Amino acid sequence: SSDVVPQAPEDPLFGLMAAYRKDTFDKKVDLGIGAYRDDNAKPWILPVVKKADEILRQDPDLNHEYLPIAGLPNFTAPSQRLMLGADSPALRENRVTSFQTISGTGAVHLGGLFLSKFFRTSSKPTVYVSNPTWANHNQIFTNVHLPIATYPYFSKQTKGLDFDGMLAGIKAAPQGSIILLHACAHNPTGVDPTQDQWKQIAVVMREKSHFPFFDCAYQGFASGDLAKDAWAVRYFVAQGFELCIAQSFAKNFGLYGERAGCFHFVTSPANDAATTVGRVASQLAILQRSEISNPPAYGARIAATVLNDPALFAEWEENLRTMSGRIISMRSALRSRLEELKTPGTWKHITNQIGMFSFTGLSEAQVLKLRQDAHIYMTKNGRISMAGLNTKNRMRLGLAKRRKAPV
Ligand code: LMR
Repeated sequence: SSDVVPQAPEDPLFGLMAAYRKDTFDKKVDLGIGAYRDDNAKPWILPVVKKADEILRQDPDLNHEYLPIAGLPNFTAPSQRLMLGADSPALRENRVTSFQTISGTGAVHLGGLFLSKFFRTSSKPTVYVSNPTWANHNQIFTNVHLPIATYPYFSKQTKGLDFDGMLAGIKAAPQGSIILLHACAHNPTGVDPTQDQWKQIAVVMREKSHFPFFDCAYQGFASGDLAKDAWAVRYFVAQGFELCIAQSFAKNFGLYGERAGCFHFVTSPANDAATTVGRVASQLAILQRSEISNPPAYGARIAATVLNDPALFAEWEENLRTMSGRIISMRSALRSRLEELKTPGTWKHITNQIGMFSFTGLSEAQVLKLRQDAHIYMTKNGRISMAGLNTKNRMRLGLAKRRKAPV
């Protein structure tokens, strides 16, 4: 009976959001969830998304019918090109199968479910995730009964990448493990390998016959250049790896609640592409059908409208630069403010780190003190969503200092 259901803890991130909403202090600051905010701390509907929305509303043929199980073909096709590059050898050789998913989370889940059923070993492979990683990774893979382990990633000393640790960790993982990699703009640290380091990672992955699982939730946020942000994925594909990718459109289109995303499975060039892709797609279709039947239409239609139109696409790139540019200017503003205040420690990592987040190095006690004393909200691991800062509230950190909070 339901008497035996134990109480589970609240989701830390959504719990934080609820606590922020409840706080009645007028100068409270939300640096929690990774969702873009404009300079007035408000959600930003991308102008290109507004345009696409108007175009869709004028379409007399639009209806609310079911999408196919694999999703909207004119969404999944440009999503492949965006991720892999229009000239990708995998696309040319028809080695890719793509399913529209419930955003990035749904893509990670569908991939996890597929691998837990069909991965090449008889025993369940272990999924290696970076330490730290997006908290939900652990939960998603655990739910599909895949064991989880971690590889080192972040150096507390340098507040940058622990590359030697990462490489050694991947090397030490049992032959044929699944290695979860953040394609760009690592969450929560804001620290990515360089291209040269990615090449070394690929060598080790090849030696150990590991399977790369890329999570790409922030394409366009790391460098401001969509192709550059997909470099690691494209490099691994060019190296002939069989791999999969979870692609989210939540952040780069600001379509958070619409749940637009894609799962891509790229089969190895060594296989007979036509039959392998067909078999993989047939199993994904069964999994998708039993879980969600077919994906939601609206967000995918918006993204498709933009992705398939060169003028709108160019406008989207401009909107992306607006977001990434504002985040970069907030990084400099925060760093100079902390340095101006002679806050103990070094703050160079704030501007070295990239993407939506900064891993500040603040301890849990400091994070909680900031919340209590200064009404500044961030996750307990000291991650801040840079988009939560703006030209108005960045001075609040000075206020925190005067109140003898830790920064
Ligand atoms: C985050 O890490 O803040 C975002 O990816 C939102 C989420 O779903 O956790």
